[in-house]
Amino acid sequence: MVPGARIELATPAFSGRRSTSELPRHANNFSSLGASRRSVNSPGIFCFCVPWFNTNMPTTVQESASVISELNKLASSASNADALMDSIVTLLHEKLTRYNWVGFYMLDPNDANMLVLGPFRGAATPHTRIPLNQGICGAAASSGETVVVDDVNSDPRYLACSLETKSEIVVPVFAKGKVVGELDIDSHVPAAFGSDDRKLCEHAAQLLGKFTESHS
Ligand code: SME
Repeated sequence: MVPGARIELATPAFSGRRSTSELPRHANNFSSLGASRRSVNSPGIFCFCVPWFNTNMPTTVQESASVISELNKLASSASNADALMDSIVTLLHEKLTRYNWVGFYMLDPNDANMLVLGPFRGAATPHTRIPLNQGICGAAASSGETVVVDDVNSDPRYLACSLETKSEIVVPVFAKGKVVGELDIDSHVPAAFGSDDRKLCEHAAQLLGKFTESHS
């Protein structure tokens, strides 16, 4: 009746955080898979199978629209760039359970070849300064292109922050046509970042870039 439900009873479905607002989102994800809610009338089965669907799926259109709307509100009310960065990483980390580490790296004003860790949510990282010629972070900032890595362990550029990280997205932040930093997100789920995640993260990075332009 519900594929995977029995397996999840014997296997921990989730190794990361969960938000308290998770249940309604799960319901949406479940519906979007084409399964009718009537097929999960048993509350026991529902509780076990729902996290399995959500944690392994990229962000849905509904999730993106909701988070984009909240991001826009943050950008229109932020008092300065640091406060905006802080509120963006908090929102993304809290709302999207697959986003296990969310942070900004900004170019060092005193060294244009160095990224410096800014506001972040998630475990402490040893990589507080990353040269532009190192890591997935360096690749994104030096190319000015979003980099999505579905399996970090098969990418020789990857600088490890956590053994749990399986996939990563890094989106450059532009201000006045130049890269000024980037948004970096790690997930414990392989291939966590689909096309809607990419659009969402690029939107967040653009908001910071536009804010920086208009407040400098
Ligand atoms: N993994 C990144 C380093 C930063 S941590 O993910 C926080 C990289 O390869 O550049």
